[in-house]
Amino acid sequence: MRILVTGKNGQLGQSIQKRVNTDTKIDNNQSSNNFIFVGREELDLRSESSISHYFKNNKFDIIINCAAYTKVDKAEQEAELANQINHLAVKQLASIVSNQQARLIQISTDYVFDGESNKPYLETDTPNPINAYGRTKLAGEKALQTVMPINALIIRTSWLYSEYGNNFVKTMLRLGKERDEISVVSDQMGSPTYATDLADAILEIIKHKKFRDLGQTTQTYHYSGEGEISWHEFAKEIFKIEKIECEVNPVTSQQYPTPAKRPRNSLLSQDKIVEVFNIKISNWESSLNACMTILKQKQ
Ligand SMILES: NC(=O)c1ccc[n+]([C@@H]2O[C@H](COP(=O)([O-])OP(=O)(O)OC[C@H]3O[C@@H](n4cnc5c(N)ncnc54)[C@H](OP(=O)(O)O)[C@@H]3O)[C@@H](O)[C@H]2O)c1
Repeated sequence: MRILVTGKNGQLGQSIQKRVNTDTKIDNNQSSNNFIFVGREELDLRSESSISHYFKNNKFDIIINCAAYTKVDKAEQEAELANQINHLAVKQLASIVSNQQARLIQISTDYVFDGESNKPYLETDTPNPINAYGRTKLAGEKALQTVMPINALIIRTSWLYSEYGNNFVKTMLRLGKERDEISVVSDQMGSPTYATDLADAILEIIKHKKFRDLGQTTQTYHYSGEGEISWHEFAKEIFKIEKIECEVNPVTSQQYPTPAKRPRNSLLSQDKIVEVFNIKISNWESSLNACMTILKQKQ
């Protein structure tokens, strides 16, 4: 088994590396030696020739694509670049993976939906992205499904945070220590997802017979933490755990305009992934505590 993980310096890429290196989630047929982690230095998704050159000399059984253009607001200005990385590169990867008779796991986002539903989104709900980032991620999903009608899997996740990189938890911890009060939007609901939990889910899936057997129809799955909160409540909980005395004022999305619109409802139903792969869904509060304990140890 040779397993390629792209985006080695990103939140999810680093979380998978952490789990693989501690050997907790990989089975007897896999060792950390089976995993190859690459960043843009080795495989630059902006460049068609970089992608084809890399795969000329490298063959894999599974590719987990954690790399993406993730700057949601900047994507409004850099839609072409975001489209190259989130759409065209995924299409090219899918074509290469298909020729290598390998399998591909593509990570996607709740931002493919417009957020107008009042229920958690099912995989069968119709996407309707409301920002450039969401449009490029959806285009990537569609290209993947066309090029690889079998042997691929799309996992949509939401509100990813971790001890790595930039994310809401780390931003709040910094702001909470600098300021006496901050304003955080209270009319966008979602489920925070700890990247380590998602890494564990992915490592479970690649061990599963339903994924390993070649010829399975390409499917989409939703994965996020368990629970339903607003960004405002999330910020309050972060400060509570860290005992930070900073007032968190609720504001509406209208009062806090951003270049990219965000869905009002980002909730994803996890029923399908639980049923098919028997994946355990972690409670968002316990995962947040776990992440913050690690962040504290790193200080
Ligand atoms: N973060 C969220 O809240 C969230 C929510 C829903 C879905 N997702 C999806 O989850 C996945 C993982 O997200 P994440 O939070 O781990 O992202 P992240 O921390 O921003 O990491 C993305 C990685 O992609 C790499 N990358 C960017 N441009 C590249 C290029 N041209 N060539 C090669 N690599 C490139 C980055 O490399 P550098 O480090 O060199 O820049 C980075 O390591 C993505 O597919 C994302 O769309 C994220």
